[in-house]
Amino acid sequence: MAKVAVVGLGGMGSRIARRLIDAGHELTVWNRTREKAEPLGVPIAASPADAAARSEVVITMVADPHALEAVTEGSDGVAAGAAPETTVIDMSTVGPEAVKRLAAVLKAGLLDAPVLGSLSEAETGTLHIFVGGERELYERRRELLSVLGTPLHVGPTGSGASAKLVANTTLVDVIAVLGEALALAEAIGLSREAAFDVLATTAIGDQAERRRPALESGQFPPRFPLRLARKDADLIAEQGLDLRVTDAARSWLQDAADDDQDYSAVLLTILKGAATRR
Ligand SMILES: NC(=O)c1ccc[n+]([C@@H]2O[C@H](COP(=O)([O-])OP(=O)(O)OC[C@H]3O[C@@H](n4cnc5c(N)ncnc54)[C@H](OP(=O)(O)O)[C@@H]3O)[C@@H](O)[C@H]2O)c1
Repeated sequence: MAKVAVVGLGGMGSRIARRLIDAGHELTVWNRTREKAEPLGVPIAASPADAAARSEVVITMVADPHALEAVTEGSDGVAAGAAPETTVIDMSTVGPEAVKRLAAVLKAGLLDAPVLGSLSEAETGTLHIFVGGERELYERRRELLSVLGTPLHVGPTGSGASAKLVANTTLVDVIAVLGEALALAEAIGLSREAAFDVLATTAIGDQAERRRPALESGQFPPRFPLRLARKDADLIAEQGLDLRVTDAARSWLQDAADDDQDYSAVLLTILKGAATRR
């Protein structure tokens, strides 16, 4: 069993920490808001640097590139505390540039390992984990990552972050496609039920079925908050390509107001917004 630090105990990080504790690893944790660390019942480090100094492996799981810089750089940051033989595993979705920046400040080994799957997958250890970094380091940490889900080595440092942007392009695009198909159905006189029956026969049939209960109940319990989906669409846009479908999906996410609602609530924004052009 390894000495592991988890830095960042939001929705995902707290569940990751819990699984590692339950698997018998020796955990130290740190979170900007200390109260979120207390329920885990394990030692709370004084700073990210302190957490790193106590551990063989440091997992960072924070919101965005700015948060990653805040917990890894400076005298209190992970980089200051992590020895060369330590492995830092960044599981946040931050894009390849932030991973490059992190690699430049670390003496420790680095794997970038963002995840596909949400709160329930983190709880049950069924995440898909896209890992970038040296293969030998990946092999050394594969067993630990397997507690959290299915790791997939996708290439050198930064490749995990790139893989996650590719996966999330499909996520934000498909939800927008579904919203627009439903908006069209509504505007041209098809009942919602008939629309779902039709969509079940199409390429987005699974996605339509998955979102149907939330649309019918009007309840979108937060799993993957809108603010994070918008951040991911921004990271994709920052790559500077002419991705017109993703740009359109991003504009719907920007119009959706409630940051802490689940990102799928963008369907309501599209249903309301699409009709305003008429
Ligand atoms: N939720 C999902 O379904 C899901 C799925 C796959 C991937 N992800 C990715 O996983 C990462 C974490 O997501 P999450 O759902 O756990 O987010 P979250 O619940 O919003 O937690 C964000 C974490 O980042 C910390 N943080 C934010 N800004 C900070 C700063 N300036 N300095 C230090 N710490 C800061 C927060 O600390 P405080 O507690 O002090 O605010 C918290 O620990 C994100 O990159 C997200 O895109 C999320």
